[in-house]
Amino acid sequence: MKGIKFIGTGSYLPEKTISNDDLSKIMDTNDEWIRQRTGIGQRRMAIEEGCVDLATKAAISALENAKLKPEDIDVLIVATCTPDNYCPSVACMVQEKLLAVNAVAFDISAACTGFIFALKTAESLLKSSEYKNALVIGSEVMTKLINFENRNTAVLFGDGAGAAVISKNDFENGIKDIYIKTDGSGAGLITMPALGSIKDANFEDKEFTYVSDNTRDIFMEGREVFKFATTIMVSMVKDILEKHNLDISDIKYVVPHQANIRIIDYAAKKLKVSSDVFYTNMEEYANTSAASIPIALHEMNAKGLLSKGDNIILLGFGGGLTFGSALITW
Ligand code: COA
Repeated sequence: MKGIKFIGTGSYLPEKTISNDDLSKIMDTNDEWIRQRTGIGQRRMAIEEGCVDLATKAAISALENAKLKPEDIDVLIVATCTPDNYCPSVACMVQEKLLAVNAVAFDISAACTGFIFALKTAESLLKSSEYKNALVIGSEVMTKLINFENRNTAVLFGDGAGAAVISKNDFENGIKDIYIKTDGSGAGLITMPALGSIKDANFEDKEFTYVSDNTRDIFMEGREVFKFATTIMVSMVKDILEKHNLDISDIKYVVPHQANIRIIDYAAKKLKVSSDVFYTNMEEYANTSAASIPIALHEMNAKGLLSKGDNIILLGFGGGLTFGSALITW
């Protein structure tokens, strides 16, 4: 049985940094509140770049790291909830920019769990076909949807992209398991209605005068999402450990979606493990939704934190509600 393994990682973060102090100049917030409640210190903001630009740059970085050419890619999936357009997909535009001429390319929408959903889809395609290499990207331009008058969510998000190349071969190590799930009963807990096609075009009268509106926003029931995130993180770790007959001490790192340091500290406490086992970088980049896990993974890879044989768990959760985990032996 052939294994499927990560053979390269990459990321791209836009240059512009927005600190908590910068935000406090345009809304009623402050660095102390944001750091204490979330662990976030700053975020990146794409100014003249879009989701496709970020995704393409992260993809180039991952391909270089994997030592593959764009034409070696058979499957190209972009996880995003902030696409530049509904049609064409971000993935098709990245395919064109990279000249990944042999790939089949499409997007996946699963909010902050998008990367895990895309990874599962890519893995399934590799397993079930002649495809050999997949490029899986998480790319988000959250700041383009933020309403900077809504301090409840404006302080939480940032822009960025992360990517990974996975490949099928006679590998012993690699992806051991990926689990994904959804719970639509919580669909109203996190919403980004601005781009939704459900919203009627805003015409004021029979003369079809268009009224520009300011509905771009991210709405979140923060406390409910907090409860969901802590509960699901703990149960996902316990479930995947039990299924593979492992103990938390067998895991070198848990790489969680980078939403909030308090969620992670809570999960670590419940799992009776040091918070250091959870890799975090939300202080620098805030919550980059589907991009946060691959950005973290690339950072860890680039820092040399991952050695052959290390067991790691990826953990995603977010709007939908969506959630998922992956067990990987590096
Ligand atoms: N700056 C300053 N004050 C703020 C603020 C901000 N950016 N946002 C909210 N506040 C205020 C509120 O207005 C409220 O004031 P009040 O007590 O006078 O009414 C107070 O802070 C507490 O607000 P609350 O929403 O209850 O705070 P909280 O402790 O629940 O923290 C979150 C808010 C969003 C940080 C927290 O709920 C959270 O992290 N939830 C999960 C979010 C998440 O991870 N989402 C992504 C999932 S993918």
